[in-house]
Amino acid sequence: MDTIIKKVMDSPEDETVYEQASQIIREGGLVAFPTETVYGLGADGMNAEAAAKIYAAKGRPSDNPLILHIADKEGLAQITDKVPPKAEALMKAFWPGPLTMIFEKKKEVPYGTTGGLDTVAVRMPSHPVARALIRKSGTPIAAPSANTSGRPSPTKAEHVREDMNGKIDMLIDGGSVGIGLESTIMDMTVEPPMLLRPGYITREMLEQTIGEIRIDPSLMEGVGEGVKPKAPGMKYRHYAPKAELTIVEGELERVAEEINRLAQEKQEQGHSTGIIATEETKAFYKEAQVRVIGTRQDEETIARHLFAVLREFDESGTEYIFSEAFSEENLGQAIMNRLVKAAGHHIIRV
Ligand code: TXA
Ligand code: MG
Repeated sequence: MDTIIKKVMDSPEDETVYEQASQIIREGGLVAFPTETVYGLGADGMNAEAAAKIYAAKGRPSDNPLILHIADKEGLAQITDKVPPKAEALMKAFWPGPLTMIFEKKKEVPYGTTGGLDTVAVRMPSHPVARALIRKSGTPIAAPSANTSGRPSPTKAEHVREDMNGKIDMLIDGGSVGIGLESTIMDMTVEPPMLLRPGYITREMLEQTIGEIRIDPSLMEGVGEGVKPKAPGMKYRHYAPKAELTIVEGELERVAEEINRLAQEKQEQGHSTGIIATEETKAFYKEAQVRVIGTRQDEETIARHLFAVLREFDESGTEYIFSEAFSEENLGQAIMNRLVKAAGHHIIRV
């Protein structure tokens, strides 16, 4: 199949792009589009056959449920009729935006979208392109991140093209996304509500709005035997680069020393290496392959570039990547959650 690629530029001509894209959605096809978090791979969420095409294009296990994207409260009413007061409070504070909530599903929502579950994940994105597409399509849009299953999530249209060209009907290019990490996921079907995936809406922000929340115990420890994550997708080796990634944690100067030592060791064995550093630490490394991911003064810069940097290392054929660790407070919890997964839990403390 030829994938139609169209840029939107906030101009009147965009209207024809949305016209074409929404027709594809209504006819059961696949359209990738930008959201404020990462690019999504969209299909009509109320059509099980359309949702099945998403799993095929991504190579995604069929027990891993999809998020339904809506543009307004009417969209929510199509999906669930049980919205607890704390969910109302979170909606008021964070929708539209990078927060996904889990509800009990209405029977009209097909099991093909929810991976066989009686619950459903819902998000109201704030990105104008996502909102225009959902509105025009007139249906909730099921959309996982638009990457091949197991690869880092796409933060640019170019990443989607790498993974999905020829496998989907259309890609709407809306430039680079703002946040760069997938949405925060909260299970609102339990009391107290439970954080299943950390994201831009942090634990601290959630607690300020609704008080006590619980954290899925499998989150930071990684998924050992017997600890089953509640979001099925969190159990897969995710966000993974092709290279072997090692995180080094500790006082920054010592971390840099250890990374330099480890990288040199691999180079002497004839391997290619890469280093993930920050503005504050780049001077510690001699290495030509250093990538500055952002500044520790502003964690948002780190979140925004993490997945793109992992993909760049893939492209250059890097075999071993060494990354500094980051603080686990606020947005750092989401950054470290993704980084630790990409590293397959390989962390060295110095
Ligand atoms: O930011 C995002 O959330 C992006 C953009 C496109 O909106 N989407 C995204 O979707 O990250 P995906 O499919 O890559 O991740 C969805 C996660 C998976 O880990 C899945 O298991 C979990 O949400 N999930 C979906 N429905 C669920 C449910 N009913 N119960 C528990 N977890 C659920
Ligand atoms: Mg994903």
